[in-house]
Amino acid sequence: MGLRSKLLVCATLECESKEEMMASMEKAKEEGADLVELCIDSMSFSHISEVEHLLKQRILPSIVSFRQNSAKSTCIGDSRKACLQVLRRAIELDVEFVEIELEVASDVVLSELMNKRSNTKIIVSSYLNGGTPSKEKLGNLIACLQCTGADIVKVVIDVIYITDVAPLFHVLAHCQVPLIARAVGDRGLISQLLGPKYGALLVWGSLGGNSIPGLLSLVSIKQVYKLDYVNSDTKVFGVISNPVSHSKGPLLHNPAFRHTGYNGVYVPLLVDNIKEFFRVYSCNDFAGFSVGIPHKEEAVRCCDEVHPLAKCIGAVNTIVRRPTDGKLVERRVANGEAAIASPVSGKTFVLVGAGGAGRALAFGAKNRGARVVIFNRNFERAKALAEAVSGEALPIEHLDKFCPENGMILANASAVGMQPNTSQTPVSKEALESYELVFDAVYTPRNTRLLQEAAEVGATVVSGVEMFVRQALGQFKLFTGGLAPEDFMRKVVLEQF
Ligand SMILES: NC(=O)c1ccc[n+]([C@@H]2O[C@H](COP(=O)([O-])OP(=O)(O)OC[C@H]3O[C@@H](n4cnc5c(N)ncnc54)[C@H](OP(=O)(O)O)[C@@H]3O)[C@@H](O)[C@H]2O)c1
Repeated sequence: MGLRSKLLVCATLECESKEEMMASMEKAKEEGADLVELCIDSMSFSHISEVEHLLKQRILPSIVSFRQNSAKSTCIGDSRKACLQVLRRAIELDVEFVEIELEVASDVVLSELMNKRSNTKIIVSSYLNGGTPSKEKLGNLIACLQCTGADIVKVVIDVIYITDVAPLFHVLAHCQVPLIARAVGDRGLISQLLGPKYGALLVWGSLGGNSIPGLLSLVSIKQVYKLDYVNSDTKVFGVISNPVSHSKGPLLHNPAFRHTGYNGVYVPLLVDNIKEFFRVYSCNDFAGFSVGIPHKEEAVRCCDEVHPLAKCIGAVNTIVRRPTDGKLVERRVANGEAAIASPVSGKTFVLVGAGGAGRALAFGAKNRGARVVIFNRNFERAKALAEAVSGEALPIEHLDKFCPENGMILANASAVGMQPNTSQTPVSKEALESYELVFDAVYTPRNTRLLQEAAEVGATVVSGVEMFVRQALGQFKLFTGGLAPEDFMRKVVLEQF
């Protein structure tokens, strides 16, 4: 198997028995894995012959590893002895890759394994945890791994912040020997998604139904991100949020990039400190961002240029890095306001929620000539927003009784009704009789209880999915400079949401 010819996607298999290992290997193959890492230390076995059977019956190219510290006490007495026994046997059976930890890889052991092998490639690995590794520390570690004469070196680091992954990209890009690099934990996910941009040989994925923090499923690597297409010229886009795993943006933007042949990747960015994120990932290749909870307000201060309306709203949704000077520029995408724009003028616009989405809707409605009335759980927040848009704030308990006229417009921009609380609704069905149009910013689920009941009483309903799609279409244009493939993106949304 050639090394850099094609990006390899690997599934790590940790199973108690040979039978489970075989079943998982079949599943990995079905889900598109190119190879598997067989963690033999996770198996309980009484005799090496059980491992031999597994290795002989493997249906995918394999990495055989054995971590001494995690070895099952039931499998052997001396874990170092067992480790070497397993690795030697794997080499005799011509398994594609054998991984040995740096601590075990003495000169004597390595030269024995090297002499024994015919086709097996030897990976020497090291795990670094705790603290932020500097480029220098990682560089020294890699030099040390390289000195062993390994065919491939591997480093795994445990990161605390997303910014800790940057030194890993640096060493990946500059390493002179084949390097496997991975940051573990949910903030390490971009080490896998962007690894191929910096020359990674392989990325890890998890088996379906087996969610592991910091790993994508094999299916999503193969079918959504299509990381095979990511190379050094790929532009990086992403959604900066915390939490971020619920974001559907990657499901839509990546297929749209592939569909149009644009060389970009759109990734979830689990960011704790947005200012620090921009300081560390400052190169032009980090080209555009959607901004989510809770960074929308702080993002205003991070941008070099902000549209006056975003300043008024106090929140930023989309940031593009200007290629000519690298400046971060806030860009406007007409989103929710546009979805419900036409009938707003001269109407009473009842808004539930005064967070980021609520603020954008309130300003949009005001600019289109509506009278804005705001209800929010936190009344002080409702009052502050009402003041900013020359509207009115009322206590949320009055919402169901609020009926100054018929034919009003209702917009829910609170999280009420969002998964998992799908049985909740911000306004009772009876009270919905006063509304002509009901919009729900919540888009998971697509058809909220609020929208179902509004349709039942005869109101026109607009789903948050429409807002989401319009925002994605606008962002695609801002990110790529080209028109978004609208029909294609709408089809993806119908399939995925
Ligand atoms: N369709 C789209 O494209 C799109 C885009 C952005 C947002 N959204 C959706 O819009 C909703 C709000 O997002 P955001 O960005 O504005 O979030 P945010 O800034 O965190 O604001 C959350 C809002 O929901 C209210 N809220 C939360 N839990 C509540 C509860 N249990 N009862 C009553 N009110 C509650 C909050 O009230 P307090 O002020 O009292 O905390 C606040 O007004 C979310 O469901 C989000 O998914 C949709």
